[in-house]
Amino acid sequence: MSKVFEMNHPLIQHKLSLIRDKNTGSKEFRELVKEMSMLMAFEVTRDLPLEEVEIETPICKMMTKVLSGRKVGIVPILRAGLGMVDGFLNLLPAAKVGHIGLYRDPQTLEPVEYYCKLPTDVNERDLIVVDPMLATGGSANAAIQFIKNKGAASIKLVCLIGCPEGIAAVQNTHPDVDIYIAAIDEKLNDHAYIIPGLGDAGDRLFGTK
Ligand code: URA
Repeated sequence: MSKVFEMNHPLIQHKLSLIRDKNTGSKEFRELVKEMSMLMAFEVTRDLPLEEVEIETPICKMMTKVLSGRKVGIVPILRAGLGMVDGFLNLLPAAKVGHIGLYRDPQTLEPVEYYCKLPTDVNERDLIVVDPMLATGGSANAAIQFIKNKGAASIKLVCLIGCPEGIAAVQNTHPDVDIYIAAIDEKLNDHAYIIPGLGDAGDRLFGTK
């Protein structure tokens, strides 16, 4: 069973309260999502391995630590996931960014991939899938499956707000994918919105409502 890490750092929680507020406009919402993503990137990368290398300071040689091993890829689920990319890139400037777009087939209600462009070496990267809202888990599950089908083996999911239904769905389908989340809200409403949530993350990021 995958682990769920609730990110209760005071700065993350404070910014989360601000983005939940319906009076927070798109500009401030975007900035806050970026800041939260940066703080979450800090937590999500805690287990990146280090290796010792020799460098020379102006005074003498020394052994010091640098990141080693596998490289990182960030995969936003379109469109709301885009709001989290810059925050991650601020801390992981060498990461490559893949994109995955899904829509729900109105007949079958199954997620259908309409766009998927990933780094060619996904099998060699630690992939971080980002999407602000983990609601039913349908999009996250489908995105993770598409990425696995392309060869990815190391995947984490990072969301701002989730609910028990979405978390259980991802844990059941992808028990190898740990979930990092700032808040687990009460439940979904009949329209698959998270309660209390923050509304439609894509609309609030891009001012489309
Ligand atoms: N997507 C959103 O943007 N908000 C929700 O509450 C659920 C899914």
